[in-house]
Amino acid sequence: MNHQIIIVGSGGHAKVVADIVMLGGQFTIAGFLDDVHADRYGTRFFGSTVLGGTDLLASLGRQGVSHGFVAVGQWQARVTAAERLRASGLSLPVLRHPAATIARDVAAGDGTVFMAGAIVNPGTTLGTNVIVNTAASVDHDCEIGDAVHIAPGARLAGHVRVGRGAWVGIGAVVIDRVSIGAGAVIGAGAVVVKDIPDGVVAFGNPASVVRRVIDAETASL
Ligand SMILES: CC(C)(COP(=O)(O)OP(=O)(O)OC[C@H]1O[C@@H](n2cnc3c(N)ncnc32)[C@H](O)[C@@H]1OP(=O)(O)O)[C@@H](O)C(=O)NCCC(=O)NCCS
Repeated sequence: MNHQIIIVGSGGHAKVVADIVMLGGQFTIAGFLDDVHADRYGTRFFGSTVLGGTDLLASLGRQGVSHGFVAVGQWQARVTAAERLRASGLSLPVLRHPAATIARDVAAGDGTVFMAGAIVNPGTTLGTNVIVNTAASVDHDCEIGDAVHIAPGARLAGHVRVGRGAWVGIGAVVIDRVSIGAGAVIGAGAVVVKDIPDGVVAFGNPASVVRRVIDAETASL
């Protein structure tokens, strides 16, 4: 019998995550939880139901739900919800779309997802709750921190380091051996050729720092 999994989040990103869960065939989706959009409670979503908020976790555990996954974009919210799942005794799997190409020695922390077309090459490590989004590539020997989001089509060369909670925007390019600071936001299409400090927004070609990150910045998914 399949394990039952609960997904936290009920937006577009949650839909993509749910699709990967279904393709894997290992889990049955027990429902979706959402602490932000109470108006969605009781509504149908991607073949299942938005059951309520994460206050339901204890009762879901008693009903046989053994696994959970957080599918929200904002990284602090993702980390908080993941901690809540773990504290409720649920296990967070690593999810991998069947069309993702992940080298055999790649180590990824729990709650991490590899979307369709993602490529991760040997020697790379990824923390917990990371998103390697559609068609993003992370080359050899990179260090990707917890709760990082590599957006669709972004490309990281070898030996790149990305700090906790950073967001590498859609289509950005990062040359080899560059470090991106914790909580940094790299704008769409940026070409990052030198280190980016913690907590700043940078974009352009070559990417330059334009300002500090505002708290709600990464709430876009
Ligand atoms: C970098 C980013 C966060 C900046 O957002 P912002 O501060 O709200 O920026 P604004 O939209 O107010 O734009 C401010 C200026 O910067 C420019 N700008 C914004 N993002 C830019 C980018 N990525 N590259 C070049 N210029 C950019 C705008 O054109 C604007 O220029 P102007 O003042 O001459 O008109 C955002 O534009 C971005 O690139 N987000 C990434 C989105 C993404 O990857 N989504 C994937 C979801 S899975």
